Amino acid sequence: MLTVFQDGPGRDRAATDGGAAQSQPRSAGPAAPGTAVRPAIRPILITCPKGLPPFLQEEVRQMGFPLRATGEAFVETEGTLADTLRLNLWLRTGHRVLYRLAEFPAASPDELYQQVTQLPWEEYLEPDSYVRIGASVHSTACRDDRFASLKCKDALVDRMRQRCGRRPDTGAEYRGASIFLFWQGFRCSLYLDTTGESLARRGYRKIPLSAPMQESLAAASILATGWADNGHFINPMCGSGTLAIEAALLGLRRAPGLLRRHFSMLSLKGFDPRAWAALRAAAEAGARPALAHRIIATDIAPAAVEAARKNAAAAGVERHIEFSVCDFAATPIPPGGGVVFLNPEYGERMGDAAALEPTYRRIGDFFKQQCQGYTGYVFTGNLELGKRIGLRSTRRIPFFSSTIECRLLAFQVFAGTHRPLSVANTQERDSRSAPSTTDGPAAGP
Ligand SMILES: C[S@@+](CC[C@H](N)C(=O)[O-])C[C@H]1O[C@@H](n2cnc3c(N)ncnc32)[C@H](O)[C@@H]1O
Repeated sequence: MLTVFQDGPGRDRAATDGGAAQSQPRSAGPAAPGTAVRPAIRPILITCPKGLPPFLQEEVRQMGFPLRATGEAFVETEGTLADTLRLNLWLRTGHRVLYRLAEFPAASPDELYQQVTQLPWEEYLEPDSYVRIGASVHSTACRDDRFASLKCKDALVDRMRQRCGRRPDTGAEYRGASIFLFWQGFRCSLYLDTTGESLARRGYRKIPLSAPMQESLAAASILATGWADNGHFINPMCGSGTLAIEAALLGLRRAPGLLRRHFSMLSLKGFDPRAWAALRAAAEAGARPALAHRIIATDIAPAAVEAARKNAAAAGVERHIEFSVCDFAATPIPPGGGVVFLNPEYGERMGDAAALEPTYRRIGDFFKQQCQGYTGYVFTGNLELGKRIGLRSTRRIPFFSSTIECRLLAFQVFAGTHRPLSVANTQERDSRSAPSTTDGPAAGP
Protein backbone atom coordinates (compact mmCIF):
# COMPACT_ATOMS: atom_id res chain seq x y z
CA MET A 1 0.00 0.00 0.00
CA LEU A 2 1.31 3.43 -0.86
CA THR A 3 1.00 5.95 1.90
CA VAL A 4 1.38 9.67 2.44
CA PHE A 5 4.89 8.95 3.71
CA GLN A 6 5.77 7.17 0.50
CA ASP A 7 4.53 10.10 -1.54
CA GLY A 8 2.18 7.88 -3.48
CA PRO A 9 -1.23 8.33 -5.07
CA GLY A 10 -2.83 9.41 -1.82
CA ARG A 11 -0.63 12.49 -1.69
CA ASP A 12 -1.14 13.49 -5.28
CA ARG A 13 -4.84 13.05 -4.88
CA ALA A 14 -4.60 15.29 -1.87
CA ALA A 15 -3.14 17.92 -4.13
CA THR A 16 -6.27 18.21 -6.21
CA ASP A 17 -9.05 16.98 -3.98
CA GLY A 18 -9.28 20.14 -1.97
CA GLY A 19 -9.46 22.52 -4.93
CA ALA A 20 -8.23 26.02 -4.24
CA ALA A 21 -7.45 25.27 -0.61
CA GLN A 22 -4.52 23.02 -1.43
CA SER A 23 -1.00 24.21 -1.89
CA GLN A 24 0.25 22.52 -5.02
CA PRO A 25 3.15 20.17 -4.38
CA ARG A 26 6.02 19.78 -6.79
CA SER A 27 7.17 16.40 -7.93
CA ALA A 28 10.31 15.08 -6.20
CA GLY A 29 11.59 12.99 -9.05
CA PRO A 30 10.87 9.90 -11.04
CA ALA A 31 7.77 7.86 -10.41
CA ALA A 32 7.99 5.14 -7.79
CA PRO A 33 8.38 1.71 -9.43
CA GLY A 34 5.03 0.34 -10.49
CA THR A 35 3.19 3.63 -10.13
CA ALA A 36 2.60 6.61 -12.33
CA VAL A 37 2.87 8.89 -9.33
CA ARG A 38 5.95 10.85 -8.40
CA PRO A 39 6.92 11.98 -4.91
CA ALA A 40 5.51 15.38 -4.05
CA ILE A 41 7.57 18.17 -2.53
CA ARG A 42 5.99 20.78 -0.33
CA PRO A 43 7.34 23.68 1.75
CA ILE A 44 8.68 22.66 5.15
CA LEU A 45 8.82 25.36 7.80
CA ILE A 46 11.20 24.72 10.69
CA THR A 47 10.66 26.90 13.71
CA CYS A 48 13.39 27.90 16.15
CA PRO A 49 14.05 30.53 18.81
CA LYS A 50 15.09 34.05 17.84
CA GLY A 51 18.83 34.19 17.16
CA LEU A 52 19.09 30.60 15.94
CA PRO A 53 18.13 30.85 12.21
CA PRO A 54 21.76 31.23 11.00
CA PHE A 55 22.66 27.96 12.72
CA LEU A 56 19.49 26.15 11.73
CA GLN A 57 19.99 27.33 8.16
CA GLU A 58 23.45 25.83 8.13
CA GLU A 59 22.20 22.53 9.55
CA VAL A 60 19.47 22.36 6.91
CA ARG A 61 21.98 23.18 4.18
CA GLN A 62 24.43 20.55 5.39
CA MET A 63 21.65 17.96 5.29
CA GLY A 64 21.25 18.73 1.60
CA PHE A 65 17.96 20.62 1.74
CA PRO A 66 17.42 23.82 -0.23
CA LEU A 67 16.77 27.09 1.59
CA ARG A 68 13.57 28.79 0.51
CA ALA A 69 13.36 31.51 3.14
CA THR A 70 14.52 32.48 6.57
CA GLY A 71 12.98 34.71 9.21
CA GLU A 72 13.45 35.87 12.77
CA ALA A 73 12.42 32.49 14.18
CA PHE A 74 12.17 30.05 11.29
CA VAL A 75 13.88 28.57 8.28
CA GLU A 76 11.88 27.33 5.33
CA THR A 77 12.99 24.50 3.10
CA GLU A 78 11.07 22.00 1.04
CA GLY A 79 10.78 18.26 0.83
CA THR A 80 8.52 15.27 1.07
CA LEU A 81 6.77 14.04 4.17
CA ALA A 82 9.38 11.29 4.33
CA ASP A 83 12.08 14.00 4.54
CA THR A 84 10.58 15.26 7.79
CA LEU A 85 11.70 12.03 9.47
CA ARG A 86 15.33 12.85 8.79
CA LEU A 87 14.94 16.48 9.84
CA ASN A 88 13.29 15.48 13.11
CA LEU A 89 15.99 12.95 13.81
CA TRP A 90 18.98 15.17 13.13
CA LEU A 91 18.22 18.84 13.77
CA ARG A 92 19.95 20.27 16.83
CA THR A 93 18.79 23.88 16.64
CA GLY A 94 15.25 23.59 15.21
CA HIS A 95 12.15 23.22 17.35
CA ARG A 96 9.34 22.01 15.08
CA VAL A 97 9.25 20.64 11.56
CA LEU A 98 6.03 21.75 9.89
CA TYR A 99 4.99 20.23 6.56
CA ARG A 100 2.70 22.56 4.66
CA LEU A 101 -0.60 21.03 3.57
CA ALA A 102 -2.42 24.08 2.31
CA GLU A 103 -2.44 27.82 1.94
CA PHE A 104 -5.64 29.73 1.45
CA PRO A 105 -7.33 33.06 2.09
CA ALA A 106 -9.75 33.40 5.00
CA ALA A 107 -11.44 36.60 6.08
CA SER A 108 -13.47 35.07 8.89
CA PRO A 109 -13.61 31.98 11.10
CA ASP A 110 -16.44 30.63 8.92
CA GLU A 111 -14.28 30.93 5.83
CA LEU A 112 -11.53 29.11 7.69
CA TYR A 113 -14.01 26.33 8.51
CA GLN A 114 -15.08 26.05 4.87
CA GLN A 115 -11.50 25.81 3.63
CA VAL A 116 -10.41 23.29 6.24
CA THR A 117 -13.34 20.95 5.49
CA GLN A 118 -12.10 20.72 1.89
CA LEU A 119 -8.79 19.19 2.91
CA PRO A 120 -8.45 15.40 2.65
CA TRP A 121 -7.76 14.75 6.33
CA GLU A 122 -8.71 11.10 5.92
CA GLU A 123 -5.47 10.65 3.95
CA TYR A 124 -3.31 11.87 6.83
CA LEU A 125 -5.20 10.78 9.94
CA GLU A 126 -6.68 7.57 11.25
CA PRO A 127 -10.30 8.03 12.32
CA ASP A 128 -9.62 6.51 15.75
CA SER A 129 -6.51 8.56 16.46
CA TYR A 130 -5.80 11.58 18.64
CA VAL A 131 -5.00 15.00 17.19
CA ARG A 132 -3.77 18.25 18.65
CA ILE A 133 -4.57 21.42 16.74
CA GLY A 134 -2.55 24.52 17.51
CA ALA A 135 -2.87 28.00 16.03
CA SER A 136 -1.03 31.28 15.90
CA VAL A 137 -3.24 34.12 14.71
CA HIS A 138 -2.21 37.63 13.74
CA SER A 139 -5.32 38.81 11.97
CA THR A 140 -8.24 41.19 12.39
CA ALA A 141 -10.36 38.33 11.02
CA CYS A 142 -9.97 36.45 14.30
CA ARG A 143 -8.29 37.63 17.45
CA ASP A 144 -8.10 34.43 19.39
CA ASP A 145 -5.71 31.52 18.76
CA ARG A 146 -8.02 29.18 20.64
CA PHE A 147 -11.08 30.11 18.60
CA ALA A 148 -9.14 29.57 15.35
CA SER A 149 -7.95 26.15 16.48
CA LEU A 150 -11.50 25.27 17.57
CA LYS A 151 -12.81 26.17 14.10
CA CYS A 152 -10.08 24.06 12.53
CA LYS A 153 -10.92 21.20 14.83
CA ASP A 154 -14.65 21.39 13.99
CA ALA A 155 -13.87 21.36 10.27
CA LEU A 156 -11.42 18.48 10.57
CA VAL A 157 -13.67 16.24 12.66
CA ASP A 158 -16.71 17.02 10.51
CA ARG A 159 -14.78 15.99 7.42
CA MET A 160 -13.47 12.82 9.07
CA ARG A 161 -16.94 11.86 10.35
CA GLN A 162 -18.40 12.41 6.91
CA ARG A 163 -15.70 10.40 5.09
CA CYS A 164 -14.95 7.67 7.63
CA GLY A 165 -18.03 7.51 9.84
CA ARG A 166 -15.76 8.12 12.84
CA ARG A 167 -13.62 10.99 14.06
CA PRO A 168 -10.35 11.35 15.99
CA ASP A 169 -10.25 12.58 19.56
CA THR A 170 -8.74 16.03 20.00
CA GLY A 171 -7.00 17.78 22.86
CA ALA A 172 -4.07 19.91 23.94
CA GLU A 173 -1.55 17.15 24.62
CA TYR A 174 1.22 16.07 22.32
CA ARG A 175 0.43 12.39 22.26
CA GLY A 176 -0.76 11.82 18.71
CA ALA A 177 -0.81 13.67 15.43
CA SER A 178 -0.49 17.44 15.42
CA ILE A 179 -1.79 20.18 13.10
CA PHE A 180 -0.72 23.81 13.14
CA LEU A 181 -2.40 26.87 11.67
CA PHE A 182 -0.69 30.21 10.99
CA TRP A 183 -3.21 32.93 10.22
CA GLN A 184 -1.53 36.15 9.15
CA GLY A 185 -3.82 38.92 7.91
CA PHE A 186 -6.27 37.17 5.59
CA ARG A 187 -3.92 34.34 4.66
CA CYS A 188 -3.83 30.95 6.34
CA SER A 189 -1.13 28.31 6.17
CA LEU A 190 -1.99 24.92 7.51
CA TYR A 191 0.73 22.45 8.45
CA LEU A 192 1.16 18.92 9.63
CA ASP A 193 3.34 19.46 12.69
CA THR A 194 5.52 16.38 12.37
CA THR A 195 7.36 17.07 15.65
CA GLY A 196 4.92 17.74 18.48
CA GLU A 197 6.78 18.54 21.69
CA SER A 198 9.68 20.85 20.77
CA LEU A 199 12.85 19.18 19.52
CA ALA A 200 14.67 21.24 22.17
CA ARG A 201 13.27 18.77 24.69
CA ARG A 202 15.70 16.02 23.99
CA GLY A 203 14.52 14.09 27.00
CA TYR A 204 17.81 13.77 28.86
CA ARG A 205 17.34 16.62 31.29
CA LYS A 206 16.03 14.70 34.24
CA ILE A 207 17.32 17.25 36.77
CA PRO A 208 17.30 20.75 35.24
CA LEU A 209 18.37 22.84 38.30
CA SER A 210 17.70 26.56 37.98
CA ALA A 211 18.59 28.69 34.92
CA PRO A 212 19.53 25.82 32.61
CA MET A 213 20.28 26.64 29.01
CA GLN A 214 17.76 25.36 26.49
CA GLU A 215 19.23 22.40 24.63
CA SER A 216 18.81 23.95 21.15
CA LEU A 217 20.44 27.18 22.35
CA ALA A 218 23.33 25.23 23.86
CA ALA A 219 23.79 23.34 20.56
CA ALA A 220 23.70 26.56 18.52
CA SER A 221 26.20 28.28 20.76
CA ILE A 222 28.58 25.32 20.44
CA LEU A 223 28.13 25.37 16.66
CA ALA A 224 28.97 29.09 16.82
CA THR A 225 32.34 28.22 18.33
CA GLY A 226 33.14 25.86 15.45
CA TRP A 227 33.87 23.08 17.94
CA ALA A 228 33.33 19.59 16.52
CA ASP A 229 35.79 17.44 18.49
CA ASN A 230 38.63 19.35 16.85
CA GLY A 231 40.09 20.29 20.26
CA HIS A 232 39.17 19.86 23.93
CA PHE A 233 35.85 21.22 25.17
CA ILE A 234 36.15 22.63 28.68
CA ASN A 235 32.97 23.69 30.46
CA PRO A 236 33.50 25.22 33.89
CA MET A 237 30.26 26.36 35.60
CA CYS A 238 28.50 23.46 33.86
CA GLY A 239 25.29 23.66 35.92
CA SER A 240 22.99 20.86 34.76
CA GLY A 241 25.49 19.93 32.06
CA THR A 242 23.57 21.01 28.95
CA LEU A 243 26.61 22.42 27.13
CA ALA A 244 28.85 19.46 27.88
CA ILE A 245 26.12 17.00 26.91
CA GLU A 246 25.32 18.81 23.66
CA ALA A 247 29.04 18.96 22.89
CA ALA A 248 29.33 15.21 23.46
CA LEU A 249 26.33 14.50 21.20
CA LEU A 250 27.78 16.76 18.54
CA GLY A 251 31.33 15.42 18.80
CA LEU A 252 30.11 11.82 18.67
CA ARG A 253 27.87 12.67 15.65
CA ARG A 254 24.88 11.31 17.55
CA ALA A 255 21.48 12.31 16.21
CA PRO A 256 19.67 14.13 19.03
CA GLY A 257 16.34 12.66 17.92
CA LEU A 258 17.56 9.20 18.92
CA LEU A 259 16.94 10.26 22.52
CA ARG A 260 13.24 10.98 21.99
CA ARG A 261 10.39 8.54 21.83
CA HIS A 262 7.52 10.71 20.67
CA PHE A 263 7.20 12.63 17.43
CA SER A 264 3.80 13.56 16.02
CA MET A 265 4.76 12.11 12.64
CA LEU A 266 4.73 8.63 14.19
CA SER A 267 0.93 8.93 14.55
CA LEU A 268 0.17 9.95 10.98
CA LYS A 269 -1.68 7.54 8.74
CA GLY A 270 0.72 5.62 6.57
CA PHE A 271 3.73 6.26 8.81
CA ASP A 272 6.20 3.55 7.93
CA PRO A 273 7.85 2.18 11.08
CA ARG A 274 10.39 0.27 8.99
CA ALA A 275 11.63 3.41 7.26
CA TRP A 276 11.92 5.15 10.64
CA ALA A 277 13.71 2.18 12.20
CA ALA A 278 16.12 2.10 9.24
CA LEU A 279 16.89 5.82 9.61
CA ARG A 280 17.51 5.40 13.33
CA ALA A 281 19.67 2.33 12.78
CA ALA A 282 21.75 4.19 10.19
CA ALA A 283 22.16 7.13 12.58
CA GLU A 284 23.25 4.79 15.36
CA ALA A 285 25.68 2.99 13.10
CA GLY A 286 27.16 6.27 11.89
CA ALA A 287 27.86 7.64 15.37
CA ARG A 288 31.43 7.61 16.61
CA PRO A 289 32.24 5.28 19.49
CA ALA A 290 34.57 7.76 21.18
CA LEU A 291 35.78 11.34 21.06
CA ALA A 292 39.25 12.26 19.92
CA HIS A 293 39.48 15.05 22.54
CA ARG A 294 38.40 15.58 26.12
CA ILE A 295 35.20 17.12 27.44
CA ILE A 296 35.65 18.41 30.99
CA ALA A 297 32.71 19.78 32.97
CA THR A 298 33.00 21.30 36.44
CA ASP A 299 30.88 23.33 38.84
CA ILE A 300 31.35 24.66 42.32
CA ALA A 301 28.02 23.19 43.43
CA PRO A 302 28.12 19.44 44.14
CA ALA A 303 24.37 19.23 43.42
CA ALA A 304 24.94 20.69 39.97
CA VAL A 305 27.65 18.17 39.13
CA GLU A 306 25.46 15.37 40.42
CA ALA A 307 22.57 16.57 38.22
CA ALA A 308 24.85 17.01 35.22
CA ARG A 309 26.19 13.51 35.65
CA LYS A 310 22.66 12.06 35.81
CA ASN A 311 21.56 14.06 32.79
CA ALA A 312 24.64 12.90 30.86
CA ALA A 313 23.81 9.30 31.80
CA ALA A 314 20.25 9.82 30.50
CA ALA A 315 21.75 11.12 27.25
CA GLY A 316 24.08 8.14 27.05
CA VAL A 317 27.23 10.27 27.09
CA GLU A 318 28.32 10.07 30.73
CA ARG A 319 31.50 8.15 29.96
CA HIS A 320 32.60 10.80 27.45
CA ILE A 321 32.55 13.67 29.97
CA GLU A 322 34.95 14.14 32.89
CA PHE A 323 32.99 15.73 35.74
CA SER A 324 34.34 17.26 38.93
CA VAL A 325 33.38 19.73 41.65
CA CYS A 326 35.59 22.81 41.85
CA ASP A 327 35.78 26.56 41.47
CA PHE A 328 35.90 27.38 37.75
CA ALA A 329 39.47 28.63 38.07
CA ALA A 330 40.58 25.21 39.32
CA THR A 331 39.21 23.42 36.23
CA PRO A 332 41.96 21.35 34.63
CA ILE A 333 43.01 22.76 31.25
CA PRO A 334 44.87 20.09 29.31
CA PRO A 335 47.49 21.07 26.76
CA GLY A 336 46.40 20.94 23.13
CA GLY A 337 43.93 23.80 22.92
CA GLY A 338 40.26 23.91 22.14
CA VAL A 339 37.30 25.74 23.58
CA VAL A 340 36.71 26.91 27.16
CA PHE A 341 33.02 27.75 27.44
CA LEU A 342 31.47 29.41 30.50
CA ASN A 343 27.85 30.34 31.09
CA PRO A 344 28.02 32.28 34.36
CA GLU A 345 24.98 33.72 36.06
CA TYR A 346 24.26 37.22 34.83
CA GLY A 347 22.04 38.69 37.45
CA GLU A 348 18.71 38.40 35.63
CA ARG A 349 17.41 35.23 37.05
CA MET A 350 19.92 34.20 39.67
CA GLY A 351 22.17 36.34 41.83
CA ASP A 352 22.73 40.04 41.64
CA ALA A 353 24.69 41.71 38.81
CA ALA A 354 26.90 43.83 41.07
CA ALA A 355 27.80 40.85 43.20
CA LEU A 356 28.86 39.01 40.04
CA GLU A 357 31.46 41.58 38.94
CA PRO A 358 34.35 39.90 40.75
CA THR A 359 33.42 36.57 39.14
CA TYR A 360 33.57 38.09 35.65
CA ARG A 361 36.93 39.73 36.48
CA ARG A 362 38.24 36.39 37.62
CA ILE A 363 37.06 34.80 34.35
CA GLY A 364 39.34 37.24 32.49
CA ASP A 365 42.24 36.31 34.75
CA PHE A 366 41.48 32.62 34.29
CA PHE A 367 41.54 32.96 30.50
CA LYS A 368 44.79 34.93 30.55
CA GLN A 369 46.63 32.80 33.05
CA GLN A 370 45.40 29.29 32.41
CA CYS A 371 43.75 29.02 29.00
CA GLN A 372 46.53 29.96 26.63
CA GLY A 373 46.15 28.27 23.27
CA TYR A 374 42.37 28.04 23.77
CA THR A 375 39.50 30.20 22.63
CA GLY A 376 37.50 31.35 25.64
CA TYR A 377 33.75 31.83 25.32
CA VAL A 378 31.40 33.50 27.78
CA PHE A 379 27.65 33.30 27.23
CA THR A 380 26.01 36.13 29.14
CA GLY A 381 22.80 38.14 29.18
CA ASN A 382 24.55 41.13 30.75
CA LEU A 383 26.99 42.99 28.50
CA GLU A 384 28.06 45.29 31.31
CA LEU A 385 29.21 42.27 33.25
CA GLY A 386 30.85 40.97 30.07
CA LYS A 387 33.03 44.09 30.06
CA ARG A 388 34.36 43.18 33.52
CA ILE A 389 36.16 40.25 31.93
CA GLY A 390 38.72 42.89 30.91
CA LEU A 391 39.78 41.28 27.62
CA ARG A 392 38.98 42.40 24.11
CA SER A 393 36.37 40.10 22.63
CA THR A 394 37.07 38.95 19.10
CA ARG A 395 33.43 38.09 18.36
CA ARG A 396 30.10 38.90 19.94
CA ILE A 397 27.44 36.58 18.68
CA PRO A 398 23.87 37.58 19.49
CA PHE A 399 21.47 35.06 21.01
CA PHE A 400 18.29 35.12 23.05
CA SER A 401 17.60 33.14 26.17
CA SER A 402 13.80 33.29 26.23
CA THR A 403 13.28 37.06 25.96
CA ILE A 404 16.69 38.10 27.30
CA GLU A 405 19.10 39.35 24.67
CA CYS A 406 22.42 37.63 25.22
CA ARG A 407 25.86 37.53 23.68
CA LEU A 408 28.35 34.77 23.21
CA LEU A 409 31.65 36.60 23.69
CA ALA A 410 34.77 35.03 22.19
CA PHE A 411 38.26 35.66 23.50
CA GLN A 412 41.29 34.41 21.66
CA VAL A 413 43.88 33.63 24.30
CA PHE A 414 47.29 33.52 22.66
CA ALA A 415 50.24 32.50 24.78
CA GLY A 416 51.70 35.67 26.30
CA THR A 417 49.99 38.14 23.93
CA HIS A 418 46.67 38.95 25.53
CA ARG A 419 45.56 42.51 25.15
CA PRO A 420 43.91 43.99 28.23
CA LEU A 421 40.78 46.02 27.56
CA SER A 422 39.88 49.28 29.22
CA VAL A 423 36.26 49.12 30.32
CA ALA A 424 35.34 52.07 28.05
CA ASN A 425 36.85 50.46 24.97
CA THR A 426 34.07 48.13 23.96
CA GLN A 427 32.86 49.46 20.63
CA GLU A 428 33.18 46.20 18.77
CA ARG A 429 30.53 45.20 16.33
CA ASP A 430 28.28 42.23 16.89
CA SER A 431 29.14 39.35 14.68
CA ARG A 432 26.05 37.65 13.37
CA SER A 433 27.69 34.64 11.94
CA ALA A 434 26.57 31.23 10.89
CA PRO A 435 28.59 28.36 12.25
CA SER A 436 31.90 27.81 10.59
CA THR A 437 31.90 24.97 8.12
CA THR A 438 35.65 24.88 7.91
CA ASP A 439 36.36 24.40 11.60
CA GLY A 440 35.17 20.84 11.68
CA PRO A 441 33.13 18.13 10.08
CA ALA A 442 29.39 18.43 9.63
CA ALA A 443 27.21 18.21 12.70
CA GLY A 444 24.61 16.09 10.97
CA PRO A 445 24.34 12.97 8.90
C1 LIG B 1 23.81 29.89 34.74
S1 LIG B 1 24.34 28.46 35.55
C2 LIG B 1 24.92 27.44 34.23
C3 LIG B 1 23.79 26.75 33.57
C4 LIG B 1 24.23 25.70 32.60
N1 LIG B 1 24.72 26.25 31.35
C5 LIG B 1 23.08 24.73 32.34
O1 LIG B 1 22.65 24.58 31.18
O2 LIG B 1 22.56 24.16 33.29
C6 LIG B 1 25.82 28.96 36.30
C7 LIG B 1 26.51 27.88 37.11
O3 LIG B 1 27.74 28.44 37.57
C8 LIG B 1 28.04 27.83 38.84
N2 LIG B 1 29.02 28.70 39.52
C9 LIG B 1 28.82 29.91 40.09
N3 LIG B 1 29.97 30.37 40.59
C10 LIG B 1 30.94 29.46 40.33
C11 LIG B 1 32.32 29.37 40.59
N4 LIG B 1 32.97 30.34 41.23
N5 LIG B 1 32.99 28.28 40.15
C12 LIG B 1 32.36 27.29 39.51
N6 LIG B 1 31.02 27.30 39.26
C13 LIG B 1 30.32 28.38 39.66
C14 LIG B 1 26.71 27.72 39.51
O4 LIG B 1 26.75 26.70 40.52
C15 LIG B 1 25.78 27.39 38.33
O5 LIG B 1 25.59 26.00 38.25
